[in-house]
Amino acid sequence: MSAVDFCGIELAHPIVNGSGTFDAIAAHAVFGDALLEDFPFSAFVSKTITLAVRDGNPPPRLWETPSGMINSIGLPNKGLAGYLEHDLPKLAALPVPLITNVMGSTAGELCELVAACDGQEAIRAIELNVSCPNVKTGLDIGADPASLAEVMRAVRPQTAKPLIVKLTPNTADVALVAAAAEAEGADAVSLINTLRATAQHPDGSGRPWLGGVTGGMSGPAIRAVALAQVTAVAARVSIPVVGMGGVQRGEHAAQLLRAGATLVAVGTESFRDSAAGSRIARELDRLEAR
Ligand SMILES: Cc1cc2nc3c(=O)[nH]c(=O)nc-3n(C[C@H](O)[C@H](O)[C@H](O)COP(=O)(O)O)c2cc1C
Repeated sequence: MSAVDFCGIELAHPIVNGSGTFDAIAAHAVFGDALLEDFPFSAFVSKTITLAVRDGNPPPRLWETPSGMINSIGLPNKGLAGYLEHDLPKLAALPVPLITNVMGSTAGELCELVAACDGQEAIRAIELNVSCPNVKTGLDIGADPASLAEVMRAVRPQTAKPLIVKLTPNTADVALVAAAAEAEGADAVSLINTLRATAQHPDGSGRPWLGGVTGGMSGPAIRAVALAQVTAVAARVSIPVVGMGGVQRGEHAAQLLRAGATLVAVGTESFRDSAAGSRIARELDRLEAR
């Protein structure tokens, strides 16, 4: 398989996981060391970690759409202290480099999270999930280039590790936001996160189905949107791009790479096939060998 240099980190192939879509700790408990012998991804991206513990949204948390799903899970996590104490030692034992994904609603929160990750040798890179409302404006930090630039100016000095900004697709011009991230020192950008979506209760009352009212749509239904946004961003920035959204087969990954991505992340497909990452890496290899 073709090795890739990503921000100075040597990866065995270009397929990683999308944050929050593969629980490596649970998978290790179920599959044992067989998981480590054929780990599906060339780097592991943690689910989003926040400063405080989060319980996530009330149920129901999932809705199936044609060729996709809406999740309103709400980023439940143990908080920074719980992650460092309980999860990090287990994730550090994985056979691939670890990328920790963090989210905060203020620059101060993000600075604290990034500084804490900077102090951990096992964390090779940090991904900033900027799909979080700014407490001052109520808008998602990553929806507005000026808001993202302000946050980046505070966060960037907190670490010398590669900083990946995970862009939100729920914005007018994602390439403009990517350019702002690059100008403020991002080492890479990743996209797309889920598209904001909702569903009504099937009882016809019009009330929302999801406990969190809205959620994020993922899966094959968003693949064409991902391809458009990855193409626009890769044409705009010089830093590496991690492309994702609806990837199910090697050909889908190849399309994102042709659009300019350096790495491709697999998300929803891993719920259907927990070995999707290594399968897609092999399919990609066969396509490249042609
Ligand atoms: C159940 C679920 C949980 C997710 N959790 C996170 C998360 O914690 N942090 C994050 O940045 N993205 C999260 N995502 C978004 C994915 O990483 C990815 O950007 C998105 O799902 C698009 O890729 P896909 O269509 O291959 O799933 C989540 C997606 C799903 C479906």
